[in-house]
Amino acid sequence: MLIRIKRGWELPESAATPESVYLGRRQLLKAAAAGPLLLGTGSLLAGCDEGPSQVAQASENVGEADPSAGLYPVERNPRYTLDRPVTEEKLATTYNNYYEFGSSKNIWQKAQALPLRPWTVTLDGMVEEPMQIGIDELLAKMPLEERLYRHRCVEAWSMAVPYSGFPMKALVDLARPLSSARYVRMETFLNREVASGQNAAWYPWPYIEGLTIAEATHELAFIATGLYGKPIPKQNGAPLRLAVPWKYGFKHLKGIVRFEFTDKRPVSFWEEIQGGEYGFWANVNPEVSHPRWSQATERVLGVDERVPTLLYNGYGEFVADLYKDMDPVKDRLFM
Ligand code: MTE
Repeated sequence: MLIRIKRGWELPESAATPESVYLGRRQLLKAAAAGPLLLGTGSLLAGCDEGPSQVAQASENVGEADPSAGLYPVERNPRYTLDRPVTEEKLATTYNNYYEFGSSKNIWQKAQALPLRPWTVTLDGMVEEPMQIGIDELLAKMPLEERLYRHRCVEAWSMAVPYSGFPMKALVDLARPLSSARYVRMETFLNREVASGQNAAWYPWPYIEGLTIAEATHELAFIATGLYGKPIPKQNGAPLRLAVPWKYGFKHLKGIVRFEFTDKRPVSFWEEIQGGEYGFWANVNPEVSHPRWSQATERVLGVDERVPTLLYNGYGEFVADLYKDMDPVKDRLFM
């Protein structure tokens, strides 16, 4: 893999859209709806932080063809608030990491090739009874709500977005794991015909991530199915994407097809590629540097300045207790 460290954040960007503007648009929509180092080849996470020139031609219509469109917008849960404006939709939907479609930030058009139906989700492993369920049946069973979440990439950029979706606990309850299960291992789709990045043999496809059961059933763990009051666009992880906002963005896997309950700690995609840089816990901490760069500050997309990064990405009051009996260094809580 090439080590390519381009600092896109050194370039100026336009200002973020204030939430009031976004909310006005949301009302309109509602009315309308009434009707590592892998050597030699490839590209390393954080080695591809391209500048905003890559977001030139955003589509205003991203996501509108999704058959679940009638479900949105959903009511916002006011418990989760932001300390910054919501990121402009165009930026959040055209500046993406999705290695299945390439290692640049500009994959949103390529991602449109992903078929979203049929989409079957498997819940298996250490569960009372393994289950396969179609995405529309799953969506009908889940309590949908909207949440404003901050999203902090390990590459030191961040955004703030309105996700729609459901608490991951509702999905764990549906799966009925055995009491001996300790982790959830999650898997992204594998479809080499539409996802050309999956033909790159130096990556260990499919994309895998994992959480402990305590994390997966924590109130903040969210399965995002919508974004900006619409179905979540393909490039952001349609139809199912994880959002665990106190952890670095690489934990937030996209295009999920399987939740497997297990008593063994899963090895995630990036951990397998470069475990020294990307670990299992990946909790945000400004004081623990990535081996190749500082995590002290972040570039907020759409804002021409860096801001200090917060412990647990600002969600410490919610999640610090999860880790109170662990040794931050020995257990590599922040890596
Ligand atoms: N999920 C899959 N399947 N493949 C990926 O390459 N990239 C991760 C995460 N989920 C990735 C993924 C990384 S590194 C980040 S920062 C976030 O997605 C980016 O999410 P966004 O594009 O919605 O901002």
